[in-house]
Amino acid sequence: MRKKIYLLTPGPTPIIEDVLLEMARPILHHRTPQFSAIIEEVKKGLQYLFQTKNDVLILNASGTGAMEGSVSNLFSSGDSVIVINGGKFGERWTEICRSYGLNVKEISVEWGKAVDPSIVRDILKRDKGIKGVFVQASETSTTVTHPVKELAEIVRDIDDTILVVDGISAVGVFDLPMDKWGIDVLVSGAQKGLMLPPGLSFVGLSDKGWRFSEDADLPRYYFDFRKERDNLRANTTAYTPAISLIVGLRKVLQDIREEGIETIFARHERLAMATRAGIVALGLRLLAPDSPSNGVTGFFLPDGVDGGRFARFLRDDLGIIMAGGQGHLKGKILRIAHMGYIGIFDIIVAISGLEMALKRFGYNVEFGKGIAAVQEILFMEMSDEGTGK
Ligand SMILES: Cc1ncc(COP(=O)(O)O)c(C=O)c1O
Repeated sequence: MRKKIYLLTPGPTPIIEDVLLEMARPILHHRTPQFSAIIEEVKKGLQYLFQTKNDVLILNASGTGAMEGSVSNLFSSGDSVIVINGGKFGERWTEICRSYGLNVKEISVEWGKAVDPSIVRDILKRDKGIKGVFVQASETSTTVTHPVKELAEIVRDIDDTILVVDGISAVGVFDLPMDKWGIDVLVSGAQKGLMLPPGLSFVGLSDKGWRFSEDADLPRYYFDFRKERDNLRANTTAYTPAISLIVGLRKVLQDIREEGIETIFARHERLAMATRAGIVALGLRLLAPDSPSNGVTGFFLPDGVDGGRFARFLRDDLGIIMAGGQGHLKGKILRIAHMGYIGIFDIIVAISGLEMALKRFGYNVEFGKGIAAVQEILFMEMSDEGTGK
């Protein structure tokens, strides 16, 4: 029999069966009233998800495309910006900004830790010429959440500075109300909290962000935000869109609205808490104990365990796909994602598989200890509804 696979990586994430079926329908043509109606609906769904009154652009690209577009559309050559670099994706902001000739002041953050917002405040007070602050809401490589709300409070009153947030593994996972907090640019991608195959990315911009797009002088062509916005307003796209993905997106956004974002955030929080509890109960050390992301949990493997072999054992023998470490954490950590279409029994599977793999690799583990900790958390949150109590 074909092995049953449990995909517990922070992208791609599992896809709901109904959404797969929607995307399997015969292809539509994109210059038709039928497709325009879909765009119109999707636009509203994205505004609900991003919690903004402004347009949320839909780009044909993985998340990095929207990251790059946020640099090329909003800044000018030689502009000074702050990048908060506490992991692989912070590093990516720096790389993109430098390739476009921006002058990057990096705030290096220890992997596994969140940035201290007062450092950003102090730099912005000292240096009045900083045009942008770049950060990850959820730094997937270190499983950390950076304090976006506090950063937005610092940046929102500075007329000449925007806050650019990579929410690729955060949007649809935890609360990032764009308009309420004053996030200027919020980027996301399809294959994480949005539960779609990779290939789409999204960008929401504040009024200040749009003002920046008027002054920016960097070259751009395919990712031209103003062109995309004008087309979106006419319920179309500048170029051939990823039609089937957008059809899938409509279904996902309908589901998201039906469940409600508050319920979705609470569900992710519960799964994250249960995962962390299971890992700690097994005597393992969390990678980001102080500021963990609710979308993905990282933990150190016991000393002497080869992370690559351990992850391969989980994948090839047990069918459980977790993510390994990146950069200097390669081979030392594992990451279990609990974002999107993940249920409580996926977490039981993850922790149960972890117990078995640990034992197989010679680590003294008491079977059931991690699972019991997961169940305790999930049980606490269960309602009595339907029990007759
Ligand atoms: C926080 C974060 N930023 C950026 C990216 C890059 O996105 P993509 O691989 O879709 O280009 C990822 C993907 O893992 C991510 O998790």
